[in-house]
Amino acid sequence: MDKIIIRRLSADDIEMLQNISVNTFIDTYAGHNTAENMQHYLQQHFSREQLLTELINGNNYFFAAFDNDIPAGYTKLRTFENPEQLPGRKHIELERIYTVKKYQGMGLGHRMMQYSLDFASVKGYELLWLGVWEHNEKALKFYTKFGFEIFGEHTFTLGSEEQTDWLMKKELSPA
Ligand SMILES: CC(C)(COP(=O)(O)OP(=O)(O)OC[C@H]1O[C@@H](n2cnc3c(N)ncnc32)[C@H](O)[C@@H]1OP(=O)(O)O)[C@@H](O)C(=O)NCCC(=O)NCCS
Repeated sequence: MDKIIIRRLSADDIEMLQNISVNTFIDTYAGHNTAENMQHYLQQHFSREQLLTELINGNNYFFAAFDNDIPAGYTKLRTFENPEQLPGRKHIELERIYTVKKYQGMGLGHRMMQYSLDFASVKGYELLWLGVWEHNEKALKFYTKFGFEIFGEHTFTLGSEEQTDWLMKKELSPA
């Protein structure tokens, strides 16, 4: 990894976003789920139309990390107009954080997480929270090291399968 640049994505980045979203999702979850359930999820969440709608929705922030113009990872942060979680707190969700397989274990996840924490603090949020599959040991360890704590759980539906996600949160220091 040479020179990493992290920048916000816009509608012009749709092709890049679709590629990285599909590839990292398959790499992470194909080994744990049926082909039908994977196909269903990919069609529902990572179609060009769906991703474009999300990219132009002001409640979402997509960022990608580029290694000399090559996409190496991405994040999605999302705010809610009527949040159910964490009432009374100003919070933002880190809905996705994915490092491309060949870049994993090189410090990129740390860079993207720190970027997300700084971004959320500068925007005035008090808390960053996320959901993580209960069996995703690697990600759980990664979040715990960053000081995230479990505060609940929710059901994540992948095709016909219901899975349990832990909800984790981290208090932010004011920027
Ligand atoms: C979880 C995930 C985002 C972490 O990203 P990553 O780029 O592999 O993370 P990093 O390289 O920053 O850190 C991973 C390990 O690499 C090690 N590492 C190697 N070189 C490093 C460097 N130069 N700087 C920092 N850490 C380095 C660290 O020790 C770290 O171990 P630790 O967590 O025990 O401290 C990534 O594994 C991933 O994309 N997984 C698949 C998708 C996924 O599960 N996403 C979360 C869904 S909820």
